[in-house]
Amino acid sequence: MGPEASPVYTGLKGIYVAKTSLSYIDDERRKILYRGYSIEDLAEHSTFEEVTYLLWFGKLPNKKELSEFKENLVTEREIPEEVVDIVNKLPKNAHPMDILKTGVAALGPFDSDLPSIWGQHIHERRAENLRIAMRIFSKMPAIMAYYYRMKENKDIVHPRKDLSHAANLLYMIWGREPNSIEAKLMDITLILHADHGFSASTFACLVTASTLSDLYSAVISGISALKGPLHGGASEQALKMLMEIGSPENAREYVKAKIERKERIMGFGHRVYKSYDPRVRILKKYIGMLAKETGQETLLNTALEVEEIMIELLGRKGIFPNMDFYSGQVYYMLGIPTEIFTPIFAISRISGWIGHVLEYWEQNILIRPRALYIGPMETRYTPLENRI
Ligand code: CMC
Repeated sequence: MGPEASPVYTGLKGIYVAKTSLSYIDDERRKILYRGYSIEDLAEHSTFEEVTYLLWFGKLPNKKELSEFKENLVTEREIPEEVVDIVNKLPKNAHPMDILKTGVAALGPFDSDLPSIWGQHIHERRAENLRIAMRIFSKMPAIMAYYYRMKENKDIVHPRKDLSHAANLLYMIWGREPNSIEAKLMDITLILHADHGFSASTFACLVTASTLSDLYSAVISGISALKGPLHGGASEQALKMLMEIGSPENAREYVKAKIERKERIMGFGHRVYKSYDPRVRILKKYIGMLAKETGQETLLNTALEVEEIMIELLGRKGIFPNMDFYSGQVYYMLGIPTEIFTPIFAISRISGWIGHVLEYWEQNILIRPRALYIGPMETRYTPLENRI
């Protein structure tokens, strides 16, 4: 079969490119499983650290394993002074995902394990790679929180070892310790965003990792892909839209006008789900209480109205709210600055990115698809002076 006859799978829609045992999206039964465990169970009973262990090591840790894992993570929370300086010198109006990407890139050269993995067979790098993984995972919150506080002319707040990953993240952003409900809600959103099959950012990590590059490079690819509004950037855009709408009464006219202009409503639709995103159901269990406590009922009611109108207008096309429609509201009600919503998504998805890369490296194969050439053939070269 010549190339012209080959099917072209634009956007890789519906194409399976590898096997994984990390997460399973069951659209029909409206379930997401991480290594077989339902996200409902994990959100209710587990912690982000435990879920990360599950994704990286393939099983839930026992007490000793979890305590060792957490100990390793907390000792890696601080970032080198030089990286703080680099982050501080970046323009304050830069996109926060560019700050995060630069911060992670700057960490690489300070990682003592990085030079030693070169030349080693991929299967001999596992111990070093796990140490590198723990460093990136643990240091990303400091990069983001320091950047935010420096931008706001506030003193940076150094990480604490006695707090959970979620609580420490909020503590470094706010400069105060979160209460147990705030920490639990943050933990739940981290868990719900931890993995999601081959999302665009996960696939970007895998493309880089498949060349046998290193974890820093893979994660930077993931951050770059997540930045876009069709992926991680949706939660910030969705919140902006709800603010613009202002109240439930304005929702119908706003949504209809946008759809008539063929514009996308951010926080709706998904490549895999054509029915309801199960993560939305979980977030909705908590968001009512949070809205009441923070006096944000109008925001929530506006969102619920937008959801109802969207389902009425586009539900038949399989367009329903996705996690990002509600996660932005949770972050906002928790008092997290809008500009760092997408970096927080990265701080969660790092678990899945790394888990998938470690899994992929077990049977690594270079990712290198073909592009069907449709350009001209045998074009004659025209010297510069003869070109018009
Ligand atoms: N608002 C209005 N119409 C939409 C939307 C939306 N949010 N999403 C899809 N559609 C329509 C689209 O116009 C198209 O209509 P038609 O067939 O008449 O041309 C149809 O639905 C199919 O759209 P598609 O772009 O071919 O579907 P996709 O699977 O490529 O798109 C998506 C998936 C997430 C890019 C898309 O739904 C979208 O742009 N959503 C808004 C951005 C967003 O919320 N992204 C976060 C995704 S969830 C978090 C994550 O995993 O990253």
